[in-house]
Amino acid sequence: MAEAAQNLPPVQEIFDPHSQAYLNDPVPQCLALAERGPIVWYEPWQAWIVTRMEDIMACWKEEPLSSDFYDWEFAPRRPPADEWSNFERAMIGHSLLADHDHHRLVRRVTAPAFSRNVVDAIQAKIEPDVRRLFDELGTPAVFDYKAEIAEHIPFISITRMVGIPEKYWPEIKQVIMTFTAAWNPTISDEERESARQDSNRAIDIIRKVINERRGRPGNEDDFLSTLLKIEAQNPEFEEWDIITLILALIGAGSDTTLVAQQWSVYALLKNDRDQIAKALASPDAFANAFCEINRWGVSSKMGFARYAPHDMEFMGQHLRKGVMVLMMPHLKDYNPAYYDNPEQFDVERVFDPEVMFGYGPRYCIGASLAKRQLYLTLTELFRRFPDIELAEEPEKDPDDHNAVVFKKLLLKTNA
Ligand code: HEM
Repeated sequence: MAEAAQNLPPVQEIFDPHSQAYLNDPVPQCLALAERGPIVWYEPWQAWIVTRMEDIMACWKEEPLSSDFYDWEFAPRRPPADEWSNFERAMIGHSLLADHDHHRLVRRVTAPAFSRNVVDAIQAKIEPDVRRLFDELGTPAVFDYKAEIAEHIPFISITRMVGIPEKYWPEIKQVIMTFTAAWNPTISDEERESARQDSNRAIDIIRKVINERRGRPGNEDDFLSTLLKIEAQNPEFEEWDIITLILALIGAGSDTTLVAQQWSVYALLKNDRDQIAKALASPDAFANAFCEINRWGVSSKMGFARYAPHDMEFMGQHLRKGVMVLMMPHLKDYNPAYYDNPEQFDVERVFDPEVMFGYGPRYCIGASLAKRQLYLTLTELFRRFPDIELAEEPEKDPDDHNAVVFKKLLLKTNA
C-alpha cells in the first residue's frame, strides 16, 4: 500500500473516531487524515474516505455514487417485493433514497412544504411546547440540559411539524427516536431488526393519521396538509411518498437536532459571553452562528455515506460494487486553508459556501426548521437564565457511533 511505500503508519493509527483521543480532541486526527490525500482507504470500516471539500461538493452535486443503504456490500439482502413489510415498502419501493429521478421529483414538488411561511407556522406551534418544557423545569439550581430539554425537542418539533395529533404521542414516542438506527451501517443485525420493527409501528401510526386527515381535510398549515394538497395535484406523488418523507424527516431530524442542541449550548457557554447576544440577535444571525458552533465543535465521527452502484473508477481509485465511500466535510473545520484563525470562536465568521446542511440535490430538507427550533430553544434558555453557566466540564459519551456527544450537560442557572 501507499503507506508502506512512504513509511507512513496505517491510517487507523492516526485516525480513530472511536478512540478516547478523538473524543478529547478530534482536530489533530482530522487534520492528519486529510493530509493523507483526497481519497483514503480506511481498513476498519472497509470504506473509502473523501477528505477535501471540492471533491465532496462535486460528489454532492453530481451524485456519481448511490445513497441507497441497500446498495452497501454489507447491507441486509434487498428483499423482493412480495416479502416487503411496510418498512421496505417505504424505504425501497418509494424511496427518497433509491431512485435519482424520483428523488428529484419529490424534492421539486414538496419544496412548498418547506417554504418560509410553513416554517413560520410550525415555529408558532412549537413555541408553546418549548415554553411548557421550561415551565415544567422551573428554576432549579442545577439541571441536565440534555435530559430535561434537548431530548424532548426533536419529538416536539417533528410531531408538530408533521401534524401528528397529541392522542398518538405516547404511542409514537416509543418508536420515533429508535428507528433511525435501521439505516445505521455500524449497528448489529439484532439492533437493526428491532429498529425495523419500530419503523413498522411508526408507519402504522402515520397511516392512521393520514387516513384521519383525509376524512376531514381542513386548512391546517402543517406539513401533512401541505403534502396531501401536493399529492392531489401531482399524480406521480402518492401516499407512500408522503410516508417515506415523514420517516425521512424523523430519521434525519432526530439525532441531528439532539447533537445540535447540546453543542449549541456548550459552545455558547464555553466561549466569550458577548458571543451569546450576537448569536441570538435574530434568526438570521443565529443561522450563521450555528455554522460556527458546528465548525468549532467538530462533533461528527462518520460523515455522510455513499455506496458504489457498480464497479467503477472514482477519483483515481477502483471502487468495487457496493463499497462504502464516506464524505467527511468536518475534516476541514480547523484547517487554516479554509478558515482564518480556526481556533477562534466567532459567530460572525463568514461561511462561503455554507455546507453544514449539505449541498446540491440532497441539501437538508429540514435546514430552516432545524435552525429555527434551535434559535427558539436557546432564546428561551437565555431569557429565563441570563447568568447560566456550565456546572462542570461535561463528559463525552464513548458509545455514540455517529457523533461526539455529552453524557449529560449540567448547567448552573444562578437564578
Ligand atoms: C442541526 C440539524 C441538522 C443538520 C446539521 C442536518 C444536516 C443535513 C445534511 C448535511 C444532509 C445531507 C446528507 C447527505 O448528503 O447524505 C441532510 C439531509 C437531510 N436532512 Fe438534515 N440536518 C439537520 C436537521 C434536520 C431536520 C430537523 C430535518 C427534518 C425535520 C432534516 C431532514 C433531512 C432530510 C429528509 C434529508 C435528506 C434529504 C434528501 O436526501 O433529499 N434534517 N441534513
